[in-house]
Amino acid sequence: MHPDPSPTAPVVREMSAELWRSAVRVLDTNWTGGHTVPSRTLNPHQWSWDTAFTAIGLAYVNPARAWRDLRTLFQTQWPDGRVPHIVFDPDVPEDAYFPGPAFWNMPAYAGRPAQGSTALVQPPVHALAAWEVYRHAAAHGADAVQQARTELGWLYPRLVAQQEYLGDRRDAGGGGLASIVHPWESGMGNSPAWDDALSAAPADLTLLPAGRRDPNLSDEEYARYLGLVRDYRDGGWSDTDLIGRHLFVVECPGFNAILATAELALAQIAGVLGRSGEASRHRKRAQVITAAITDRLWDPDTGFFHARDVRTGRLSPARSVSGLLPLMLPDLAAPQVAALLEELSSPRFGLPAPSYERTGPAFDTRGYWRGPVWINVNWLLRRGLLVHGRRREAEELSRRLVRLVHHHGHYENFQPEDGSGLGSPAFSWTAALCLDLLADRSAPAYARGSRG
Ligand code: GLC
Repeated sequence: MHPDPSPTAPVVREMSAELWRSAVRVLDTNWTGGHTVPSRTLNPHQWSWDTAFTAIGLAYVNPARAWRDLRTLFQTQWPDGRVPHIVFDPDVPEDAYFPGPAFWNMPAYAGRPAQGSTALVQPPVHALAAWEVYRHAAAHGADAVQQARTELGWLYPRLVAQQEYLGDRRDAGGGGLASIVHPWESGMGNSPAWDDALSAAPADLTLLPAGRRDPNLSDEEYARYLGLVRDYRDGGWSDTDLIGRHLFVVECPGFNAILATAELALAQIAGVLGRSGEASRHRKRAQVITAAITDRLWDPDTGFFHARDVRTGRLSPARSVSGLLPLMLPDLAAPQVAALLEELSSPRFGLPAPSYERTGPAFDTRGYWRGPVWINVNWLLRRGLLVHGRRREAEELSRRLVRLVHHHGHYENFQPEDGSGLGSPAFSWTAALCLDLLADRSAPAYARGSRG
């Protein structure tokens, strides 16, 4: 990646200020009036975990918009507790995004936008986001604190319902973990972690839309993804008998690490709301999920967390960044923490971590979740480093991430060897998390280090 210009302190401050302003501009550009889109070009609707990451940055510059974003998303929560992974904007034409509302063919019901949503979910980062927005409210004055308490009160039962849906209805394996029933639910759609499990799904090429392809997937893979959605849709989006009903049922370490982290955030929120009994229940749940992740997804032979195919019981051989995310868990046992820290400094990953191991057979430097660096998962890893007292490494990671965005722009993801930007150039979560990283570091520290 680019050599650092080793700037002087005033230059550093100016660079940080410029980066801050550009991040705010990206968030302003992507605000529609009711919600933030991930990018104007590629993702013109509202996405679930994007909304959470975006709120974390908006906490610094416009908390009211952060709450509005979270509210807009949770207003579309299903009666069973699931929070859809995409909420379709009725003002966006059908052909602007595929698969759009017509493919999902969702029945509308009270309170949901006319064009509805998808029926899949994404990692539940929202409780953590809500807690972060609340935590920063005091910096914006008494009214902001008042609003934050009101919004937390509104969100809390909805966040609990989301956890219950994932923890109960989605526990296909019966071992205390949530299963995903589609690779898109992981947030890391084309990760090599799904390759084996996905091979069980037939590729019906007739499902491919005329003249429109996903640049990150082969036609065959894309057809498998669409086939999984069609089958779920034809089954009325039912979650009974998950293993019998779905051809893809997988326990993802990243998803479940976020599920446990959400319980810890809910414990904090319950405390603020004066519900201390519930707070201890959330903390206990986090411990139980942490134990289940270790029990079911840790492979002592590889010293890594792998995705489990619930239908076959097999662990995926892939080492994806998702397998590093259990580092966020404070109750993770010392041997696992040590192994993940070693992995992070090994030639396989390094910091910032690519989305898949650099030395793995499927590594692809431009392949979306098969190699490129993403800011959101690195932001989560940074939390993991802090949770385990690795402040120096966490600060170094922050510096590298900020430098990456400063040199290349607020891209969706980054080529892991030269740092060049890939995908959308004005991506909301990159900008939002950049604000958080900038806010949390001292200017002189930014000038240190020579390579990113
Ligand atoms: C892609 C990413 C997913 C993200 C979505 C919107 O599908 O894989 O994680 O939520 O784009 O940005």
